[in-house]
Amino acid sequence: MKKVFVNGYGSIGSRIVSFLKDDPEITVVGIGKYSPDSKVDDAISKGLNVYVPESKLDSFSNYKISGSIESALDQSDLVIDAAPGGHGYKNKKNLYEPKKIPAIYQGGESTTGAAAVSELLFNSRVNYNQALGKYHVMQGSCNVTGMGRVLEPLRNKFGDQLVRFDVTLVRRWADIEQTEKKVSDTIEMTEKPHHGDDVKLYFGKDAPLYVRAIKVPTRQMHLHIMDIRFKDTAPKPSEIHDVFTNEFGVATLWTAKGTKDVRDYAQNMGFNFTDTNMIHIHANMTTAIGDTIQMMYSDDQTGIVIPENHMLMQAMLFEKSYKDAFTHTESIFHMAEKKQKLQEYFAKNN
Ligand SMILES: NC(=O)c1ccc[n+]([C@@H]2O[C@H](COP(=O)([O-])OP(=O)(O)OC[C@H]3O[C@@H](n4cnc5c(N)ncnc54)[C@H](OP(=O)(O)O)[C@@H]3O)[C@@H](O)[C@H]2O)c1
Repeated sequence: MKKVFVNGYGSIGSRIVSFLKDDPEITVVGIGKYSPDSKVDDAISKGLNVYVPESKLDSFSNYKISGSIESALDQSDLVIDAAPGGHGYKNKKNLYEPKKIPAIYQGGESTTGAAAVSELLFNSRVNYNQALGKYHVMQGSCNVTGMGRVLEPLRNKFGDQLVRFDVTLVRRWADIEQTEKKVSDTIEMTEKPHHGDDVKLYFGKDAPLYVRAIKVPTRQMHLHIMDIRFKDTAPKPSEIHDVFTNEFGVATLWTAKGTKDVRDYAQNMGFNFTDTNMIHIHANMTTAIGDTIQMMYSDDQTGIVIPENHMLMQAMLFEKSYKDAFTHTESIFHMAEKKQKLQEYFAKNN
């Protein structure tokens, strides 16, 4: 049994810890909170031990906390950092490295430059083995993870027939739980988005991948608009869809009118946190024109990285084979079942 601490209890941290509690191979030491607010009691009511920074112990005197984050780390075999972007690096320098504790970081951190948390950006579909026994690894962000789920199977299938990928990321404004965050009535353009460079860390630095990004006023997932150019005539849309028939974390849907349809279905079916944990190819939008395939898929922003964190944790803590880690993750997340249900509900109308 290994002991894991989750530092941060926001959109990502609260999901990760909820699934870890279902993992018989893991003891959850607790979670790290930084603000004395209602989420402290919320976590305690779920049976979690709450730890806070040593320097902030006084401001949590009205709550039944279990001690300092520093002391929790001393009891842990690994920490999953779920801090706001940039704070993970500071935690690495101030806490994890001095205490020699292995750490997983989230996609708001960086793998290049002065504030890099790791040289490795994890995507279980592409580089699982490289994370075996590693000490500091960053999980790709939701958009970066989603792109990998599409690009890698296409590369495996079509190889040097592929000439170029052009992707427009249509990013959601805020998460469903972030009720305090106002969704502005604008379409915001993102200068120099990091996502393409992040994908190239695992897909290859010379990959012909060109990414643009905009942010739109919705809480209901990201949508990626992807054009794939082939050397010769592009395959038929059905050949593209066939590539994803047995892919983990990719559902192929025909009748969803928008991303909220998918979220509503997840909610109605009682999926945890209303997450599907996957990407959804909107198959009715796939077209072949000459040498180009045009496709769109939506990306469950908060859910998609949670099973990935679970795979990464197993590589770092237990050095399991991909197959063993995958089987264990599947026993907790039930992705195959969710995929089947989604595909049946949004099946093609005959
Ligand atoms: N949201 C998504 O869809 C999504 C998807 C993929 C990846 N990510 C990445 O995941 C990371 C976390 O994002 P999030 O959306 O979960 O953020 P969030 O909802 O804003 O939650 C951040 C949490 O971190 C805590 N925190 C504050 N300072 C901290 C520190 N110094 N060290 C550790 N924790 C600290 C906060 O505690 P208090 O509330 O107590 O202040 C809060 O619980 C980011 O790197 C983000 O880019 C997010």
